[in-house]
Amino acid sequence: MSNKDITQLVRPNLLTLKAYSSARSEFKGLAEVLLDANESPWPTGRNRYPDPMSTDLRNALGRYKNFSPDQIVFGNGSDELVDQITRIFCNEGDAVHALPPTFGMYKVAAGIAGAEFRATTLAPDFTIPVEELKASWDERSKILWLCSPNNPSGNAMEAEVLEDLIRTFPGVVVLDEAYIDFVPELSFLPRLAEFPNLIITQTLSKGWGMAGIRLGAAFASPFIIRMLNTIKMPYNINVLTSAVALEALSKPEEMKAKVATLISERNRLEAALTKLDCVDYIFPSVTNFLLVRFKDSAAVYQYLLDNAIVVRNQAYQPNAENCLRITAGLKEENDRLLAALSDFE
Ligand SMILES: Cc1ncc(COP(=O)(O)O)c(C=O)c1O
Repeated sequence: MSNKDITQLVRPNLLTLKAYSSARSEFKGLAEVLLDANESPWPTGRNRYPDPMSTDLRNALGRYKNFSPDQIVFGNGSDELVDQITRIFCNEGDAVHALPPTFGMYKVAAGIAGAEFRATTLAPDFTIPVEELKASWDERSKILWLCSPNNPSGNAMEAEVLEDLIRTFPGVVVLDEAYIDFVPELSFLPRLAEFPNLIITQTLSKGWGMAGIRLGAAFASPFIIRMLNTIKMPYNINVLTSAVALEALSKPEEMKAKVATLISERNRLEAALTKLDCVDYIFPSVTNFLLVRFKDSAAVYQYLLDNAIVVRNQAYQPNAENCLRITAGLKEENDRLLAALSDFE
């Protein structure tokens, strides 16, 4: 797909829309006295509006990812990017494709935009049923959401399959790499330039351990980045979030150590859960969570709640009957879960 085709996928009114112009972006030169933005003058570190382009943050993430900062845009969590991407490409009646069981926001964003949500259920081993998916798309298809590693199944999709889908889908493909910090070698980011219709999203909520600051990133071609910058709220990334993220990005070894600990805790949980009578099957995971099929997930879910332990019920999702999703926590937390489950009758 060429860049020209992508301009034709965008909602036409956005091609000529002028983004909001913030006070700080309207001048160039020395700024010693700032009386332009109706801010409070006391220098608390919070009194000024943030840089709408998050320049320092883009440079820092670009350095860490070895990727051009000009092709990065941030969202208030990747949730916000899911919504923005959907609104850039979808008019009412357009189609959005996804592969349940998967992350729920793709469907919510499609609903907000009035787009048709077309679901192709993953195979029982959570691989992509390629031919079935291809048979479901047509000229109304605008977005294909691919989540790898996938939430809630925990598996990564095969690179050849992802590449084939990116090359053949007639619209924009978004590869959600929220869990990529647990398997960085699987990221498609180094190959993004090969695919003009590909958007990759990542987040600082998982491996980086900062779900509370709300910071997600989209990586894409200059044209798609321009569209995202056109529709985003000018100050969606606040100064507190930026400061905390910059600090974390300056110490990636801390994140990597925590990721290694979580992977080893996940493996320990898996080995211990396998031995329990109430467990039927554990799906292989490359993430910080396990999808576990129990003999009676509703009873286990309620029993854990009675013991003040909260896991995520996935039993309502297709091909995830009797499944609960369990996040790897601190060693003591995982021990408490295992102790409770070993007492489950
Ligand atoms: C696959 C996937 N994508 C995106 C998100 C949202 O992440 P964020 O916290 O950046 O909004 C999640 C959160 O659970 C997720 O599992």
